[in-house]
This record gives sequence, structure tokens and C-alpha cells, in this order.
Amino acid sequence: MMITKTKRVIKISQLVNPHFKKLWSTQRPYIIAKGGRGSFKSSTISLKLLTMLKKQAQLGHKANVVCIRENTVNLRDSVYGQICWAIDKLHMTDEFKYSVSPMRITHISSGSAFYFYGGDKPEKLKSNTIQNVIALWFNL
Ligand SMILES: Nc1ncnc2c1ncn2[C@@H]1O[C@H](COP(=O)(O)OP(=O)(O)OP(=O)(O)O)[C@@H](O)[C@H]1O
Ligand SMILES: [Mg+2]
Repeated sequence: MMITKTKRVIKISQLVNPHFKKLWSTQRPYIIAKGGRGSFKSSTISLKLLTMLKKQAQLGHKANVVCIRENTVNLRDSVYGQICWAIDKLHMTDEFKYSVSPMRITHISSGSAFYFYGGDKPEKLKSNTIQNVIALWFNL
């Protein structure tokens, strides 16, 4: 029996709304995304963060991303769910391990992870030593 694996080609640029093309391609260190409800801010940012983490992982580097939402109770339905959405869009579901307590999404092969925190519980962030942080997303 022969098993052939077909390569899937995903054009991420086609998933990015034209309005946020600049946000998508910029290398600038600080980005503020403005726009009304459902204007693709979170979608674009989650795709960007996932791509950044994956690129580092492919280079053999560990790269962590911290995601903060102003309210802890909203974490799961907002930033956590948004990163899951991006992972699904890029067909990378099997590459990650999902944990809710602690809230974390780990890239299995590289050990890189998305960490999630509520801005209303700064004590959880205090003295928290996460290394190799490549990006921080503060979702208001
Ligand atoms: N490439 C895509 N194809 C289809 N649907 C998409 C795509 N990108 C985003 N969406 C959908 O469009 C909507 C965009 O919402 P998103 O959460 O990105 O907006 P937002 O600007 O962060 O809004 P809010 O201010 O409410 O947080 C979501 O429902 C998302 O599932
Ligand atoms: Mg949003």
C-alpha cells in the first residue's frame, strides 16, 4: 500500500482583508489596529502572530507570544478563540496542544506557545518569566 501526502497550498495573503494589508506586511515593532466591530482587526493580528511563531519554529527557534485581554473572563471567547480560529484557517490544528488551565496553546514540535492573560489580574503577570517573547498582543 502506498500513502501519498498531498501538499496543501494556503495563500495567507488572500485571507487578509485589503484594509489591513499594511498591518500584515509591516515589520514595525508597534502596531495599533483601529476599526469598528468586525473590521478584521483580530483576524489579521491572529494570522500575523501565528505566521511569526511558525516562521521562528521553522528556523529552529523557540518563540513565545503573549496575548492579553482587559478582562480575564473574556479571554477564552476572545483572544484564545481568535488564535484557534487562525490555526484552523491555516490548517495547523494538529501541530498544537490546547490547554485552558493554564490558558495556553503550545506548538508541539518547537515548544513555542501562546500565553493568555487578563489585564485585570496583573498579579498573574507579575514575576512571570516567559522567555523568547516575540510579540505581545493587547486586545482592548
Ligand atoms: N479571511 C476570512 N474569511 C472569512 N471570514 C473571515 C475572514 N477573516 C475574518 N473573518 C470573519 O470576519 C469577522 C471579523 O471579525 P474580527 O474579530 O477580526 O473583527 P474585529 O475588528 O477584531 O472586531 P471587534 O472590534 O469586535 O473585536 C469574524 O467573524 C471572522 O470570523
Ligand atoms: Mg477583535
